Amino acid sequence: MQRISLTQFLIEQQRAGRTTADLRLLIEVVARAVKAISVNVSKGALAGVLGEAGSDNVQGEAQKKLDVIANEILIQANEWGGHLAGMASEEVEDVRPIPREFPKGGYLLLFDPLDGSSNIDVNISVGTIFSVLRCPEGCVEPVEADFLQAGREQVAAGYALYGPSTQLILTVGDGVHGFTLDREMGSFVYTHPFMTVPVDTQEFAINASNARFWEAPIKRYVSEMQEGKNGPRGRDFNMRWVASMVADVHRILTRGGVFMYPVDDKCRAQGGKLRLMYEANPMAMIVEQAGGAATTGHERIMDIQPHKLHQRVPVILGSRNEVERVSRYHAEA
Ligand code: AHG
Ligand code: MN
Ligand code: MN
Ligand code: MN
Repeated sequence: MQRISLTQFLIEQQRAGRTTADLRLLIEVVARAVKAISVNVSKGALAGVLGEAGSDNVQGEAQKKLDVIANEILIQANEWGGHLAGMASEEVEDVRPIPREFPKGGYLLLFDPLDGSSNIDVNISVGTIFSVLRCPEGCVEPVEADFLQAGREQVAAGYALYGPSTQLILTVGDGVHGFTLDREMGSFVYTHPFMTVPVDTQEFAINASNARFWEAPIKRYVSEMQEGKNGPRGRDFNMRWVASMVADVHRILTRGGVFMYPVDDKCRAQGGKLRLMYEANPMAMIVEQAGGAATTGHERIMDIQPHKLHQRVPVILGSRNEVERVSRYHAEA
């Protein structure tokens, strides 16, 4: 079997005019950082990387040691290559400029260094999510306003899943492509070309412990699924909730499903739970590129004009017919 590496894949994308040399470098650097994060994640207790870091991030969450380590790995890997104008991270309050001593490029990189932190200490899959934007014309020292672009402006998006195997899932706007880390060789192998989300599904993902806080359209949608064969849907549904967005989205990309973290009475004051710029937008681009849909219930996620770097949004994404049904229930409410 002929094995295509991530490097070869990216060179071919560049030859076809779908990426620039700088974007190819950027993705290669992110992939290299992902390998380093994967090593740390998989060593677990042996490397003393589990548990709390003893600090809080800007969102008021207690940081895990691996949140801090993954953030440092991504920043250090990306700051000197000359491909970036700036970075932004879940774990860093303000935008992160490129240090003066390094050349600057035209892209902005945003990331959730470690997604699913609550799962680290129990040895359940976690991930990294990233989004790439162009720095607006004339942007030398980017400020927050330069990052506040709608998701449809993304030039690339991806995530890494640190599961039984480490996978890198990527889109540069021409479908979704999956790579698996060959640990012996130290390289990503192209294993999942043109991943697609089936339009229909029998599976949903939501944190059901929040049911009493949900709005009417979500209550209606979930209870109709729970009624199963004898309810209005006329069939049974299954539920899965890993509580690592990366793992939940990856399942949907593999076999379909609908993922929901809607706005509810518990997170209404913040606008939702998940972060628009480095969780919702990159996942929305991936899911749409795979033939699925992503909405807040009222509008397409990638059409939202951001007003804050760490802004939160309601997220409903996955199999198109289900996402459309949830949107319809919101419109009818
Ligand atoms: P993070 O670990 O990057 O802060 O993100 C956690 C998010 C997301 O991965 C997941 O879908 C959700 O939080 C889990 O929320 P619950 O604790 O409500 O299950
Ligand atoms: Mn967090
Ligand atoms: Mn996250
Ligand atoms: Mn995180």
